[in-house]
Amino acid sequence: MTVAVTGEMRRGARLGAVVLLALLLALALLALPAGRRGGGGEQPGSPPPPLQLPPGLREELWQRRRDLQRLAAAAGGGEALSGGLSCGDLSLATEVSVLGWGFTKVVARAALAGGGAVALKSVHGAGREVRQCVQRYGAPAGCRRLAAYKLLKEVTLLQRLQHPGIVQLHGQCYDNSRDPEVGVTAMLELGSPLEMIQLLQTPWEERFKICLSLVKLLFYLAHSPLGSIVLLDFQPRQFVMVDGNLKVTDLDDASTEELSCKEDNDCTLDFPMKSFPLKCSAVGKCEGINEKKNLFNAYRYFFTYLLPYSAPPALQPFLSDILNATGDLRYGINETLKVFEKVLHLYKSGLYLQKRPLLLKDYISVKGFGIMKGGDYKCWPSYSYLGCLLSVHSAEEAAAICNSQSQCQGFIITQQRTWTGRPLASFQSNLTNLIPDANAVVYIKRSSSSGERL
Ligand SMILES: Nc1ncnc2c1ncn2[C@@H]1O[C@H](COP(=O)(O)OP(=O)(O)OP(=O)(O)O)[C@@H](O)[C@H]1O
Ligand SMILES: *[C@@H]1O[C@H](CO)[C@@H](O)[C@H](O)[C@H]1NC(C)=O
Ligand SMILES: *[C@@H]1O[C@H](CO)[C@@H](O)[C@H](O)[C@H]1NC(C)=O
Ligand SMILES: *[C@@H]1O[C@H](CO)[C@@H](O)[C@H](O)[C@H]1NC(C)=O
Repeated sequence: MTVAVTGEMRRGARLGAVVLLALLLALALLALPAGRRGGGGEQPGSPPPPLQLPPGLREELWQRRRDLQRLAAAAGGGEALSGGLSCGDLSLATEVSVLGWGFTKVVARAALAGGGAVALKSVHGAGREVRQCVQRYGAPAGCRRLAAYKLLKEVTLLQRLQHPGIVQLHGQCYDNSRDPEVGVTAMLELGSPLEMIQLLQTPWEERFKICLSLVKLLFYLAHSPLGSIVLLDFQPRQFVMVDGNLKVTDLDDASTEELSCKEDNDCTLDFPMKSFPLKCSAVGKCEGINEKKNLFNAYRYFFTYLLPYSAPPALQPFLSDILNATGDLRYGINETLKVFEKVLHLYKSGLYLQKRPLLLKDYISVKGFGIMKGGDYKCWPSYSYLGCLLSVHSAEEAAAICNSQSQCQGFIITQQRTWTGRPLASFQSNLTNLIPDANAVVYIKRSSSSGERL
């Protein structure tokens, strides 16, 4: 079988996706009744766990099935947004390659027949979740179903939650040739893993964008149509980047339940180094516990690493305030979003530049000239590895940056814009090579050798 599959895949055969996935699932061989109706794209009604399973596993299956059904009903029996893709698209997908896996699921990339690529998520038959369950109960089929409930839960959540910070569900397929639920494949927006180390080396503006996206996501989750949602397993590996935007991809450990309580003492939010006493509300729920848990996790996994370093000095007090207030849970998500937006406004409008000496007067501006593309001296954190390309508010700010760099003899403001709409400026040490460019302006230091000649 393996040989046949690799041969087929090399030819980009139509069944590539299905066959590879079947392989990935390690075909733990389901002895479950096959041939039930599933209708392909439609979610089959979840059957009760078979009687012959070990009682403990049966109980766990009942529980997950109940959770799933409650969740499916929660949006007021709401319209499930059905994705456009279904089993037919999956069977035509090619160029399947594994992207990654976790304890429960395996994720592959696949090219669609109509162009474009998706991420395919299915149960990881050889993953830790299934293995541990099999060790415990010795029932592979039941264990795979237990894991499948997690993916089904994720699909159900993705159908009802729509936000730029949540990976988009394009569709799903229930494989009727096996137990349709266990053979579920979710087709998702394709992303790339979040590389924290790499992110630490990107410009502050890009790191701020990631934190802001996260805050917007948490705001949405706190006020979602399903109630306040907590991400129980909140780690950078649950997120991917799509076109420079942060998106959560792993929702099987999300919960819409808020902890029940009788008194305030029942409501302690515990983290490894810290715990927060919360209030028990009149309706017997720990007030805001889901929102607070998300926010503190955002603080400890994202903000502390991404927010402070190399931020514009005038914004530092605001960022320190964000770090302090989220680290102590003084702010809720509403206030946090508000301060993030304030920082964005200060940054975009250039108000953070405050009163500074005017330095642009030390530069000669030459209209109608640009600089030949190619490298020059490097700086950090540049938007290009070929030279020194930085985001600026204005030519005035660029002049201040150029003055602070000993190699800099001048700069141009390029047509490129960052996500905040700020232009990128290219700083130069060698301005002997100006070329005519009707739309460009070159700023040359008066004291520079080329400046003096002009
Ligand atoms: N949409 C996607 N695009 C690209 N890669 C993805 C996508 N979704 C998930 N991945 C990759 O696949 C891995 C496993 O996915 P996922 O986190 O959903 O599985 P899991 O078994 O629930 O993992 P965990 O054990 O961390 O809970 C992720 O860590 C991520 O790197
Ligand atoms: C916030 O600031 C207070 C007062 O300076 C300090 O005691 C506290 O430790 C800070 N908390 C965090 C999370 O930085
Ligand atoms: C936060 O904002 C949401 C949405 O605007 C609003 O419904 C909610 O009441 C606010 N919560 C607090 C505590 O201000
Ligand atoms: C500046 O660029 C020109 C043309 O590319 C090159 O000939 C010259 O050597 C460069 N000067 C310096 C100091 O690098």
